[in-house]
Amino acid sequence: MMNNLFLDAANSKPTERPPVWMMRQAGRFMPQYWEIKNKYSFLEMCKTPEIAADVTMLPVDLLGIDAAILFCDILVTGEAMGGDLSFTQGVGPKFANPIKNAADIDRLEVDVLDKLQYVADAIKVIQQRLNGSIPLIGFAGAPFTVMSYLVEGGSSKDFKLTKLLIHNHPELAHRLLAKIAKVTTDYLNLQIAAGVNAVQLFDSWALSLSWNDYTEFSHQYNQQIIAGLNRTNVPVISFCKGSSVFAPLMAEAKPDVVSVDWNADLLNIKNALPTGMAVQGNLDPHILYADQHVIKKTIHQLFERMRGVDGFIFNLGHGIMPDIPFNNVKYAIDVVKEFRY
Ligand code: CP3
Repeated sequence: MMNNLFLDAANSKPTERPPVWMMRQAGRFMPQYWEIKNKYSFLEMCKTPEIAADVTMLPVDLLGIDAAILFCDILVTGEAMGGDLSFTQGVGPKFANPIKNAADIDRLEVDVLDKLQYVADAIKVIQQRLNGSIPLIGFAGAPFTVMSYLVEGGSSKDFKLTKLLIHNHPELAHRLLAKIAKVTTDYLNLQIAAGVNAVQLFDSWALSLSWNDYTEFSHQYNQQIIAGLNRTNVPVISFCKGSSVFAPLMAEAKPDVVSVDWNADLLNIKNALPTGMAVQGNLDPHILYADQHVIKKTIHQLFERMRGVDGFIFNLGHGIMPDIPFNNVKYAIDVVKEFRY
């Protein structure tokens, strides 16, 4: 591999500068994404390996990041289990058959790798295109976050139905989470077998949970998944919004990297983690709307804070918003790439 920065940092080895990639780097802030998106539906893009590879390669070619991330979505596991998934412009993801009762949970399938084979096929095409230049990150949604979409039927502000399920019918919630966790473990192992160089578990909405509920309904399943991965030489990144609170529990699940939101001081989080566990983060994505001198100053502040620390991957605290100016994203990446410790 020509560019080892990302894997070295994930393995807590020294690097000459922090490696950079950005969550949602393969997305709508790029005009070139829209050229493809205007021709196909989002799920067609995910399920056609050549198109998924084209979109994965956009930020590689246009931004020069240090790691690529597979173009797909966290909700494809829910679809493979039986969820009737669609993505509509301006509406977001929808499951037309939300889970309401025990029978709905019992109907969900768990031996679904044949339905996710398109992801393995996409990974093989992407690795041919990358040709060893930079590593490829695979990913999946964490059970709690995927459950929230299956139960709410789409995105939610307050997760009311999901919380009612875990509070009034914890045994049903556990039945559902256990099924998602099994599928997620198999699915990430499928991606590893197909050739990804790292995997990230996205628990985007963990922040909505209390400490006790996070422990019972999220953490234990993430831990189970991470323990079940064929992870030799494949670093595991654990991401959640809420990591500035939940980092100690996330560390118990033994990922190689904890991806941190922007609420916390990154060095303080790093110092509280076990030795040899790396951090990823944690720029507020809104900084990328600001003037370029602000972008540069804020990135340099973070790098000064992290000076001398091995095991640091630069990223945002959450994904790039679709209306962030492309030139600001490019500028931020150039600022990182010009930096030397
Ligand atoms: O990071 C990347 O660029 C790789 C691809 C990727 C997508 N989704 C593509 C996508 C990844 C890693 C995801 C993860 C994902 N999907 C998460 C976790 C990360 C996070 O942001 O918290 C979540 C919660 C989802 C669920 C999801 N998918 C939502 C809520 C939406 C619609 C609203 C939104 O933010 O876009 C999607 C659709 C989606 N996933 C798009 C893309 C490029 C937009 C589809 C379009 O073109 O309309």
